[in-house]
Amino acid sequence: MSVTTHDLRSFKQERRRFAMLTAYDHPTAKILDAAGIPVLLVGDSVGNNVLGYDSTLPVTMEEMLHHTKAVVRGARNALVVADMPFGSYQASVDDGVRNAARFLKEAGAGAVKLEGAQLQLTEALTRAGIPVMGHLGLTPQAVHEMGGYRVQGRTAEAARRLQDDALAIEKAGAFATVIEGVPSDVGADISTALSIPTIGIGAGPGTDGQVLVINDLLGLNEGPAPRFAKAYTDLRAEISRAVTAFADEVERGTFPDAEHSYR
Ligand code: KIV
Repeated sequence: MSVTTHDLRSFKQERRRFAMLTAYDHPTAKILDAAGIPVLLVGDSVGNNVLGYDSTLPVTMEEMLHHTKAVVRGARNALVVADMPFGSYQASVDDGVRNAARFLKEAGAGAVKLEGAQLQLTEALTRAGIPVMGHLGLTPQAVHEMGGYRVQGRTAEAARRLQDDALAIEKAGAFATVIEGVPSDVGADISTALSIPTIGIGAGPGTDGQVLVINDLLGLNEGPAPRFAKAYTDLRAEISRAVTAFADEVERGTFPDAEHSYR
């Protein structure tokens, strides 16, 4: 049985904390799914983590559909949530509904995620039978408006506005929301105020779920990582070790040996 949006609501009622991870390709989706990760997010972070863009803004609908299809084919049990890319829902509610429907119809996703308090669109999608995950706080698609990737909700007034937005998207029909880049007390207060699950990233331990970008968790990215991006392993070093060993063996003529050749 696949995980549903209703299961996530039950997790909240049962005070059961849960993990969400980003996935961008089929083999990774299969591994995460088999490991029991209940929610896979095909984030528009595919832009900076896989496609070589320096932000999420250039990511297109076609790129998101391509990666979502690969992840859906690898997920037997997990709920797959597809991120609506920048420009796919800002112009009009009609545009948003048409594009969101493509993720369910063409790619087989179970839900879509929208950044910011998109109340009218959230209502329209919910009415159309398209489950919506919200995303509030530090919303990377609004990098220019925020003046950079900055922690949000630092003043009492900003924290109150964030909580109002969270309550408004819940009322509009969102089944869960990501809370990104806010002080821990703000993450906890919003989680207490909402009856839908909150999924934090850089929002402290008080949210109902936690999400990380898979490349950060696996230690694949180079350069300074944000404070919340805990690396649980160092795959970058491991990949470098493996490919160097291969190249050395090729150069020394020890690969392929008898075991790896046909008689
Ligand atoms: O695109 C993404 O990976 C995200 C997560 C950081 C929540 O939106």
